[in-house]
Amino acid sequence: MSPRPLIIDCDPGVDDAIALLLALASPDEFDLLGITTVAGNVPLALTTANARRICHLAQRSDVPVYAGCPRPLLRSLTTAEEIHGASGLQGANLPEPSLPPPAQHAVPWLIERLTTASAPVTLATLGPLTNLAVALIQCPAIAQGIDQVVIMGGALGPGNVTPAAEFNIYVDPHAAKVVVDAGLPLTMIGLDVTHQVVTTPARLADLENLGTPVGQAAAGLLRHYGQIDIDRHGLVAPPLHDPCVIAYLLRPDLFTGRPMQLTVETEGSICLGRTVASAPSQAAPANATILETADAAGFYALLTERLGKL
Ligand code: RIB
Ligand code: CA
Repeated sequence: MSPRPLIIDCDPGVDDAIALLLALASPDEFDLLGITTVAGNVPLALTTANARRICHLAQRSDVPVYAGCPRPLLRSLTTAEEIHGASGLQGANLPEPSLPPPAQHAVPWLIERLTTASAPVTLATLGPLTNLAVALIQCPAIAQGIDQVVIMGGALGPGNVTPAAEFNIYVDPHAAKVVVDAGLPLTMIGLDVTHQVVTTPARLADLENLGTPVGQAAAGLLRHYGQIDIDRHGLVAPPLHDPCVIAYLLRPDLFTGRPMQLTVETEGSICLGRTVASAPSQAAPANATILETADAAGFYALLTERLGKL
């Protein structure tokens, strides 16, 4: 099969960084057209610099990184330095590439790329959905250039920012609603799935034992990441969220899910950013595939094997 055209929208962020490395290590499966960055875990200037640092680490500075929206559609920005560190890549000390990023904003680039695509493009979104929402509002015709959208976000169980909401959706619930309501082929990978994918000491050691700069960087990033989630959610080890999106695109057999009717709460305070999924009906047909299970052992075997190629 020819490589799948792919755009990754992200807010690096430690787990975004691991997801980018997994995608960059899979050139046979992905034609990575570009990376777009959004404000989320840390402000936009840092998410953009961090995405470029990861491309440089993977010796893939050929992949363009386009800076997108510096804040959500309506809400003020909520960041997560307590999880990812002030730099956004706590645990790794990566040089920033010398060349400046492209001047073009991510949103017009997304519109240009998706309206002129020779083959439908897969979108992997790993952060708040502001960029994609603005592109859809400005140019709904981009939908014709999209094969599918795989979103890391949401939760049918407890959230991780509030009891109701997961971070990516909570930061920009209005953008999430624009995307969910756009009628795109959508797959949601929420906390219900990513909390099954935890970085145990043995799995961390496998990455460290790669003995490569990428293996060392990945182990350094993951060594301190997500500790807060262990206590907050009663997990045995820190969950790894964003790389599940890339792993799903590489090996969908590692996951299971079902079509459901998905919507996003954009009102109130207690449930703001809640993703609500129900069994589809004639009145409310399925608009998303909601993933439910992950084969964690298979995921980490894939991750370690691929990062070992960089
Ligand atoms: O809730 C986890 C998600 O929020 C991940 O994408 C993480 O990087 C943060 O963006
Ligand atoms: Ca992210």
